[in-house]
Amino acid sequence: MSVTRSFYGNMPDGREVELYSLCDGAYTLQAITLGATLQALYAPDKYGRINDVTVGFDSLSGHLEHSDYQGKTVGRYANRIAGGHFFIGDEETTLVRNEKGLTCLHSAGEFSDAVWDASVTSENSVELSFVSPDGTNGFKGALTAKVRYTLEGGRVTIDYSAVCDRDTVINFTNHTYFNLSGSAGSDVLGHVLQMNAPYFTPTDADSIPTGELRPVRGTAFDFTTPHAIGERINNDDEQLINCKGYDHNFCLSRKPGEADVTVYEPVSGRRLSVFTDLPGVQLYTGNFLDSSVLGKGSLPLVKHAGLCLETQYYPDTPNHTGFPQCFFAAGEEYRSTTVFELSIF
Ligand code: GLA
Repeated sequence: MSVTRSFYGNMPDGREVELYSLCDGAYTLQAITLGATLQALYAPDKYGRINDVTVGFDSLSGHLEHSDYQGKTVGRYANRIAGGHFFIGDEETTLVRNEKGLTCLHSAGEFSDAVWDASVTSENSVELSFVSPDGTNGFKGALTAKVRYTLEGGRVTIDYSAVCDRDTVINFTNHTYFNLSGSAGSDVLGHVLQMNAPYFTPTDADSIPTGELRPVRGTAFDFTTPHAIGERINNDDEQLINCKGYDHNFCLSRKPGEADVTVYEPVSGRRLSVFTDLPGVQLYTGNFLDSSVLGKGSLPLVKHAGLCLETQYYPDTPNHTGFPQCFFAAGEEYRSTTVFELSIF
């Protein structure tokens, strides 16, 4: 096991972005301090060939100019807040509306655009931290967040903790786009997905949950048994048509000892198991990628080049009393852990 630190690049204002590499056997995880981003994850296939199983950018300029949150830590509120506003008690918070002037998506980069501090916490972990000042993008209260990446063989543990000096909402996620084939330039339509998710939250035309928890049974959203991503993605289903594919929150029903989500890629024999303590996961199949941007290896990021499994509270929870709540009082600690475990079959 080893951890190394190196220079990754300079921000336009000169600040240095660092790269940390954690190695354990055949597995390597790289994280950069811009956005506490999971930059790369190298893993063997069933023949022992080692490839990066994440889709994104080689260089800092790629992240700065073309990011669709590839690999980033997103917060303080991942996904959308309708109208960019919500109430805590009688007090209204008004946020930057960075999506079509209508919604606040991914907190308009509050944490994903920040350069975090980093420290090596053990021979197989690195911890990143950032304090977002009161008022950033409209959020009230200075929020201190920590994200720790730990690599044990193919097991990546992401531990989040956060605390705010005012009452707030907190919902951190990681926005890695996985492509288990390890072949850049390919799509994930052949990846097979299974989720312990009996319900999903359908959305309106602006991708805001309607509030309904809809049973997946009998729909293209039923992954309670394994299905290829591409099998039903082009079905004549209003939800899929609106989002150009899957971009939906699934409501997890925890089964002790079982992964919440499992994805496998038949050709490489790689499998990804996801474990989380959060109530939901956003399945996003890279629907907005359109080959116009070059990613790693200078290859185009094609439509559906990767799939994101963003563990989370449900989108727009602050405006839905019926959803599991993510309110944290001033001084109250938020803690959450998501594990991405790679293996071969
Ligand atoms: C999330 C959202 C998507 C999209 C991506 C980034 O997954 O749900 O709609 O915004 O982030 O492109």
